[in-house]
Amino acid sequence: MPKGTRTTPDPVVLSIGGSVLLTGEGDRAYVEDLAGRLLRLGQQLPLLVTTGGGRTAREYIRLGRELGLTEVELDEIGIEVTRLHARLLAGRVGPPCPARPPATVVEAILELRNASPVILGGTEPGHTTDGVAALLAVRSRAARVVNATDVDGVYERDPRVDPTARRIERLHWKEFRAMVHAATTTDAGQNFLFDRLGADLLARAGISLRVVNGRDLPNLEAAVVGERFQGSQVDP
Ligand code: UTP
Repeated sequence: MPKGTRTTPDPVVLSIGGSVLLTGEGDRAYVEDLAGRLLRLGQQLPLLVTTGGGRTAREYIRLGRELGLTEVELDEIGIEVTRLHARLLAGRVGPPCPARPPATVVEAILELRNASPVILGGTEPGHTTDGVAALLAVRSRAARVVNATDVDGVYERDPRVDPTARRIERLHWKEFRAMVHAATTTDAGQNFLFDRLGADLLARAGISLRVVNGRDLPNLEAAVVGERFQGSQVDP
């Protein structure tokens, strides 16, 4: 490398499921630990983080559906909850992380020029915060996306239905996309390992996805920085 040339690491995008952030058990200690790590990681590399809406979003969406709201209105309610979670986490991380979650992918990437980590919730109706994470990754030319979820990887079959199902440590986008498309609908409040739009975008861009248990923070950190980790990796 020529003398004086500065290299910045490629950005990393982390999608944290709402069901990981708020479980009702040990949430305060978890969010404190997570926030401390995000602050430190954000100094090492440009870090974009999305937060999901979890159970809270699903409860509002269920009630809204019973009240006859449209799917778009339900998505918008979901987005508000994801932003609430982004504010909570960003508030604990503190400066330089912006306290107000950016409302769009473009705004988040612009913020990343001056601040890291940048934490946001949803953006527009029709996908989930995994879709936002994928859009951020494609636009920022990220090295990888890490999906922090409430299971510890991709299983050959649903392990809650079949306890003998094994975790798949490495798989290709073609296989994973087929799994995502088979398991999800486009309705508000859908919930699977990763959303359709996100899987399609990352597959097309050839960006890897790591799926980890979000409550295991040392492992999550290893996945973010590109070290060996426990979970599943989806590759082009
Ligand atoms: P989530 O990203 O939380 O989806 O958004 P999820 O699949 O329920 O994920 P977990 O459980 O947190 O891991 C909640 C809902 O908000 C709407 C969708 O209806 C989504 O299901 N949403 C979210 C959008 O419409 N657009 C967005 O950009 C984000």
